[in-house]
Amino acid sequence: MRFFVDTADVDQIRKANDMGVICGVTTNPSLIAKSGRQFEDVIKEITSIVDGPISGEVKATTTDAEGMIKEGREIAKIHKNMVVKIPTTIEGLKATKVLSSEGIKTNLTLIFNPNQALLAARAGATYVSPFLGRLDDISQNGLDLIADIKEIFDMAGDIDTQIICASVRNPIHVMECAKMGADIATVPYNVFEQMMKHPLTDQGIEKFQADYKAVFGE
Ligand code: E4P
Repeated sequence: MRFFVDTADVDQIRKANDMGVICGVTTNPSLIAKSGRQFEDVIKEITSIVDGPISGEVKATTTDAEGMIKEGREIAKIHKNMVVKIPTTIEGLKATKVLSSEGIKTNLTLIFNPNQALLAARAGATYVSPFLGRLDDISQNGLDLIADIKEIFDMAGDIDTQIICASVRNPIHVMECAKMGADIATVPYNVFEQMMKHPLTDQGIEKFQADYKAVFGE
């Protein structure tokens, strides 16, 4: 399983990139709004940091296929690595079909059931983004959704669409997605830090330092 970082905060993107673990970035309208910057400015800066797929979403207020296609073409022009993020609606499927026929990469977002993922794949989506955390929030098991999509895509045998585990909230989400063989997890920066934390690692470093200093000094 590969990693994207899920943020529009360029400082966090730089830190995740410097760690050497990410190969892409996902953003959404809420994350862009949180950055307090204009969409195109922040997206351009992200493309200068990470050389991999960068998902930029069509405007939250654009709900018709025609509008999504127009915006998708503009987003794709920003940089060769751009992926157009599109909400998983019927209009979104229509836009996906057109954009993918033009060679523009798409990421179908806000997926909450396996049928949405299958339809997105058949419409030509490059990526599907099932949201785990938001399902957990309403007492449904988000990880079951990933397992179902993975099984359906594998069974089909002719689907190239990649699964991006999204709305990841904790290290257990990441580990379970990796065990299921998901293609990618898009992870908030703080979860990368949580994934690296182990008290025995910290204690081990302290002991090595103490033992070394006792014999060799500082
Ligand atoms: C995915 O692409 C979304 O940007 C993101 O994972 C949503 O996560 P949230 O449910 O924590 O907002």
